[in-house]
Amino acid sequence: MALWCRESPWRWSDRSPRATGRVCDVGELVVSPTVRVLDDEAQLAQRAAEAIELGAAEAIDRRGRFHWALAGGGTPKRTYRVLAGPPHRETFPWNRLDAWIGDERIVPGNDPASNRRMILEHLLWPAGADTSALHAFDTESGDPDAAARSYADQLAARVPGNADGVPVLDLVLLGLGTDAHTASWFPGSRFCAGETVAVVDEEHAGYRRLTLTPAIVNAARQVLFLVAGASKQDALRRVLLGPSDPLAIPAQRVAPTGGRLTWMLDRDAAGQFFAD
Ligand code: 6PG
Repeated sequence: MALWCRESPWRWSDRSPRATGRVCDVGELVVSPTVRVLDDEAQLAQRAAEAIELGAAEAIDRRGRFHWALAGGGTPKRTYRVLAGPPHRETFPWNRLDAWIGDERIVPGNDPASNRRMILEHLLWPAGADTSALHAFDTESGDPDAAARSYADQLAARVPGNADGVPVLDLVLLGLGTDAHTASWFPGSRFCAGETVAVVDEEHAGYRRLTLTPAIVNAARQVLFLVAGASKQDALRRVLLGPSDPLAIPAQRVAPTGGRLTWMLDRDAAGQFFAD
């Protein structure tokens, strides 16, 4: 059950006097996300699965395919398990899905740290879905730059683009780290204008990574964050309430230019502040 649901006006400027107009590549910093607070992580996974299936239905109704960028991490994993089970296993349009991995550690595809492996094990295999729906990074060629270019080319070839030529994904699912990272955007990570997929060369928690960039995430029709657990409270407050500092607080880079932004939190992550 949602404790509360607020369509607006969660604006940086409401809460952070230091927040101002535009900062580097994040675009307009005034964002109005929907924030939904659920009782616990199980509820969060249920509601998230419903929202994803609804997003899929809308996309397929309008354009015939569902282009979904999936997150790694423990919170999304729980949602994948729900989607792979009844009733979603039967109702989700698996045969119209293009599943894009939002970010990946540069490890062999069967490594326990691989998001590809996690998505197969927790979503596509238990759902009995055709695994050709999953577009994975080439993490085994030894050439991450070529892998990033190839993934960007696949996206450009399969996902219809906007006026700037940036592929418009139907839904981007994201998690939040305790340091306010999201995808593989870490504090201090920089991305070149115009690139949709990037190599993150500095190791984070022991891994180099490949990631979708802010440019493609912010072109999406819908971005959905899933955040659970009390350990995320501080990061969440910094992201949503400011001060505005996207280089230090990477999840602040998420500001869809035309799409919807939703945060689904469990009560532990929301804490007292967001439960009022
Ligand atoms: C990953 C993602 C990462 C993740 C967050 C939150 O593959 O792990 O890159 O951005 O979504 O770290 O993860 P949790 O939900 O496990 O806290």
